Amino acid sequence: MQDKGFLMIPGPTPVPESVLLSMARHPIGHRTKDFSAVMEDVTEKLRWLHQTKGDVLTLATSGTGAMEASIVSALSPGDKVLVLVNGKFGDRWAKMAKAFQCEVTVLSEEWGKAIDPEQVKEALATPGTYKAVIITHSETSTAVINNLEPIAGYIQSHGALSIVDAVTSLGATQVPMDDWGLDFVATGSQKGYMMPPGLGFVGVSAKGWEAVEKSTMPRFFFDLLKYRKSLKDASTPFTPAINLIYALQIALGMMQQEGLENIFARHHRHKGAVRAGASALGLANYVAEDKAAAPAVTAILPPEGVSADKMRGIIKKRYDIALAGGQDQLKDKIFRVGHLGFVCDRDVLTVLAAVEGALRELGHDVAPGAGVAAALKLLD
Ligand SMILES: Cc1ncc(COP(=O)(O)O)c(C=O)c1O
Repeated sequence: MQDKGFLMIPGPTPVPESVLLSMARHPIGHRTKDFSAVMEDVTEKLRWLHQTKGDVLTLATSGTGAMEASIVSALSPGDKVLVLVNGKFGDRWAKMAKAFQCEVTVLSEEWGKAIDPEQVKEALATPGTYKAVIITHSETSTAVINNLEPIAGYIQSHGALSIVDAVTSLGATQVPMDDWGLDFVATGSQKGYMMPPGLGFVGVSAKGWEAVEKSTMPRFFFDLLKYRKSLKDASTPFTPAINLIYALQIALGMMQQEGLENIFARHHRHKGAVRAGASALGLANYVAEDKAAAPAVTAILPPEGVSADKMRGIIKKRYDIALAGGQDQLKDKIFRVGHLGFVCDRDVLTVLAAVEGALRELGHDVAPGAGVAAALKLLD
């Protein structure tokens, strides 16, 4: 059956029809009053989403581009940075900072576990050692959320900048930039924003801007000073992804209608429901600790001796639901269910029913409806 595809991966995430349709228009010139009116509105809405009075810049790029814009704007070659790594995206930060000739120290934690804030505190015991601390808030590769609030506090006491990948946490849980004193927050549109891929966002604090003004890193397209200057005229330095910005206006409007607290509660409920559903089907959650489990994505271990990719294959072929696989050392060991952005209770129940169907097809004896029943208890 055509067009029944159903995305339950942690990005790209499903896009509401009104958001899709908003893009089906001719682009307008970006040096016009009409475009500036849209830009002003989305910028205000982005401030609301980031819980900041500071700047949030919109770039035509992906989440990685937003990460790179943060690094090249905040830092200078030779700067000492501490990178917190407990998965593939933390690893990407370390590689990126090295590529730009920063002196990188890695504080790592086992995959599947959250970074211990006390270890960060210890690593930052001598003030002024690091220019910046770089962290992945929600480590999508392992479905772990790091405890950012206390870590951000330790970074501030150390006098360092915080550079945060909030790609799968913003719009799923609290990332209050101003309250937590976050300096650079990088995200991408195809995640909690309920949009197609193509926009990257960087939130920058006042302290962040001081660093940008002093940074000597070579850069051009990703120079955030250019974006700040253009934003004063509600524009962008280069041709923006105009139709995606139309979509952003609609998506952020929908988010405002739902309200931040309701959005976070919905993600929290879905995480609980998927975890409970998996357990009821006799499957272990890869992230053992509930409080370390990400609100955007859940990683599930297949039954002993079963290939995770085979299970995903059955779910795709039989039910047309796309789930994500494991990455690097977790390849074929876990499958990941995304519940980020435009996801409702029905989606969560459907995916659990499909997992049950795959288990049956593989000859596993599961109590009929066990996963759905366990999830329903939490969704009531
Ligand atoms: C935590 C995290 N950081 C960074 C990225 C990279 O984003 P992009 O693929 O948009 O460049 C992703 C993408 O899945 C992610 O989940």
